[in-house]
Amino acid sequence: MTCFSFLFSRKVDSTKKRPVEHDEGLSGIHGVNQYTYKELRMATDDFSPTNKIGEGGFGSVYKGRLKNGKIAAIKVLSAESRQGAQEFLTEIKVISDTQHENLVKLYGCCVEDNHRILVYNYLENNSLAQTLLGGAHSSIQFSWRTRTRICIGVARGLTFLHEEVQPYIVHRDIKASNILLDKDLTPKISDFGLAKLIPSNMTHVSTRVAGTIGYLAPEYAIRGQLTRKADIYSFGVLLLEIVTGRCNTNTRLPVEEQYLLERTWELYERRELVGLVDTALNGDFDAEEACKFLKIGLLCTQDAPRLRPNMSTVLKMLLGEKDIDGKNITKPGLISDFMDLKVRSAPKPKPGMSNTPRNNVSSGSTNLDNSTLSSGTSTCATMSFTAVCDRST
Ligand SMILES: Nc1ncnc2c1ncn2[C@@H]1O[C@H](COP(=O)(O)OP(=O)(O)OP(=O)(O)O)[C@@H](O)[C@H]1O
Ligand SMILES: [Mg+2]
Repeated sequence: MTCFSFLFSRKVDSTKKRPVEHDEGLSGIHGVNQYTYKELRMATDDFSPTNKIGEGGFGSVYKGRLKNGKIAAIKVLSAESRQGAQEFLTEIKVISDTQHENLVKLYGCCVEDNHRILVYNYLENNSLAQTLLGGAHSSIQFSWRTRTRICIGVARGLTFLHEEVQPYIVHRDIKASNILLDKDLTPKISDFGLAKLIPSNMTHVSTRVAGTIGYLAPEYAIRGQLTRKADIYSFGVLLLEIVTGRCNTNTRLPVEEQYLLERTWELYERRELVGLVDTALNGDFDAEEACKFLKIGLLCTQDAPRLRPNMSTVLKMLLGEKDIDGKNITKPGLISDFMDLKVRSAPKPKPGMSNTPRNNVSSGSTNLDNSTLSSGTSTCATMSFTAVCDRST
């Protein structure tokens, strides 16, 4: 399967940063485990390409064995993400203090010279993007029960970030590649809090990774309004992906089926939602529950942010503790119309080229449920579109 992917560029900080010594300005940050660069080089066999397990908007990720024998995912932040050691560590402290069964655990970091590296618990079963949506590459069977557990686990993790952590955290990049699975297929949300590691004057919507555009709430993508409701929109799209086993955008499908959210709305209106459930389940699923999950996905992606339920309500709905029957569902905020517009107006990419000249979409002030982001950043989405996400169907 093929999905569009989009490049959200980050401005490179023009002010050259003075290299920092290992311990410069690190006073007052307790409880953050720090690794030396040498230690991480050894853990990854000098960041050997054979140990590289992925690459995202923030940099490359390597698998490594730490001195204590633990296997870790080691994320080397790219040059653009660098910031002062103190500021970096302050944010790292917030991330490492934020712990939950459904969040990836940060073991620690390395802040040495210009290096900024994060060390995470390694999750054995990769991401939902590579397994459930990655088709041919995975041997994992996602039964209906497993899918419901995953949806509920992610909802729990996001409820925690949105409603239990003080001050609350807007993830900004909820998507299948940021949902990792441990050996028991328990979902763990990764990359929360990372947006703040980019200096505030260059905080942009991430990332170059496939499919991201399909998760973006229109008000965020177009007007730069970032609230928890933008995460809830992305969660809604993810929910649809988990139930259907389809990537949010697949340009290989017939035109009317290319955008999953649009398609789900159509079938909802025709009362044919059940037809969307992943055929890989061979009919072995609870049809009523599956349709309920799809409807919750639609509730989360409604165009008006205020109509989207908050995460604790979503969680109750998924658990069957709150009824959704009789709830009015309004039309989703579809970014696909906007995408079509951009795709048509953008110069055609040359074959093999990864991106086209940027289309500056808009900028706007960051607004978190009418309060400002604690980092006080403003966000603007600068996007251009590029190639393709894979899933062989
Ligand atoms: N803790 C981890 N355990 C196992 N694999 C991981 C871990 N963290 C990341 N990965 C792998 O590395 C890949 C790249 O991760 P990364 O977060 O850099 O990029 P991404 O999630 O695809 O995009 P983004 O930068 O927008 O988050 C992931 O898709 C996953 O396959
Ligand atoms: Mg990620």
